Amino acid sequence: MVTKENSVSRRDFLKLASIGGAGVLVGSTGLGTSLYALNHFGRDNQHSKNKVNFYGKHQSGIVTDVQKHVYFVVLELSTDDVQQVKKMFQDWTTQSVKLMNGDVLAEISKNTLLPSVDTGEAVGLDASRLTLTYGISAEFFKKLGIEHLKPKDFVDLPHFPKDQLNPKYTGGHIFIQACSDDPQVNFHAVRNLVRASRDIVSMKWSQTGFNSYDETKKTPDTPRNLFSFKDGTGNPKFKDTETLDRFVFIDQDWAKNGSYLVVRRIQMHIETWDRTSLEDQERTFGRHRDSGAPIGMKKEYDEIDIKSKNDKGELNIPEDSHVHLAKKANTTIMRRSFSYSDGINEATGTFDAGLLFVSFQKSPEQFIKLQSMMGRVDRLNEYITHRGSGVFLAFPGIKEGGYIGEALFNRL
Ligand code: HEM
Repeated sequence: MVTKENSVSRRDFLKLASIGGAGVLVGSTGLGTSLYALNHFGRDNQHSKNKVNFYGKHQSGIVTDVQKHVYFVVLELSTDDVQQVKKMFQDWTTQSVKLMNGDVLAEISKNTLLPSVDTGEAVGLDASRLTLTYGISAEFFKKLGIEHLKPKDFVDLPHFPKDQLNPKYTGGHIFIQACSDDPQVNFHAVRNLVRASRDIVSMKWSQTGFNSYDETKKTPDTPRNLFSFKDGTGNPKFKDTETLDRFVFIDQDWAKNGSYLVVRRIQMHIETWDRTSLEDQERTFGRHRDSGAPIGMKKEYDEIDIKSKNDKGELNIPEDSHVHLAKKANTTIMRRSFSYSDGINEATGTFDAGLLFVSFQKSPEQFIKLQSMMGRVDRLNEYITHRGSGVFLAFPGIKEGGYIGEALFNRL
């Protein structure tokens, strides 16, 4: 495993490289080899800023404060050799620790005749609160012939009314979710992870996204989505471990402390939305746009009462509004979504923009319940189209000295 001695922060890398120029460094490009020079100069990762701990009961990137950027990628396996796949996750573990610490992936080599082990575009950048989250699809179990280890709960999503899924944004065996405050840090992480395993994985689909908020505030505001509404208010609180244990984390068998991830690439029809009155927009969600408060209330976190009525005796939060329907489904999920903007649709001259909806839940059933409730009648449907989809099992957290997916591979 990675130790302090063989790590060097990306911030210190260039300083060290210049010393290396004086002929001190050992010329090797292998990952994880011993580092004479780093030990010699006492450099380690402790000065890297904005680090999130890789190890823990749960993987990072689930109940970690949401960062500003995501790079979400879905991979396909080209091998059915379980041992090779296990080795890949072990290698990714070593790399993930370094990436999340803001360290370079390997020591500086003086051998310019070889490609560098770390591709280098994150040199000089700190850890940027990078989190890396990993998981597998139901197809993964099939591909490797280990379906007996697939938890019973793990079902694929059914076709929902109004789904217009594009095969371009579906399928795959493994997801990696890289979130940080710097898009280049995310890209660097995904690029290097995929590069290390090119012999057995290929990229099926990916999506980048962003969230904006004033990070200088002690408690940053809830980010707004591209329909300008605060998105994430109704989530369980991270401190509310009882709710998280009840609704977000798996409590059974090898997958204990993992979570099911649902991803939906949802196009938002910005032009139609922009022609809609503010009143209609607010009635679509059931919340006020600027304050984020439930309609009829003043503050964002005021309790929602879907039965409350206005002076005219009408429901404040219309029955077909997004929030009313979500409440009616009578379940809870942890949403951790990002907006995306992918240029324009050339055929229509409209924005190709929307939400990379990501939610974590104890069972895919919770999402199915919500989406079935909303799919037919949600007012929001007039303004959105679901284009991509996936459901994955995000592995349990990793103990120091352990590796990603260990709980599963130990059962083989
Ligand atoms: C582009 C698509 C979507 C947009 C723009 C959107 C936006 C919003 C907004 C603005 C809120 C109110 C604030 C908040 O509590 O976060 C909300 C709440 C919520 N949404 Fe969505 N949403 C979308 C898709 C979905 C989907 C696909 C699901 C699940 C199937 C979902 C589930 C929920 C839930 C559970 C709540 C919380 C309700 C509560 O208990 O207060 N949303 N959404």
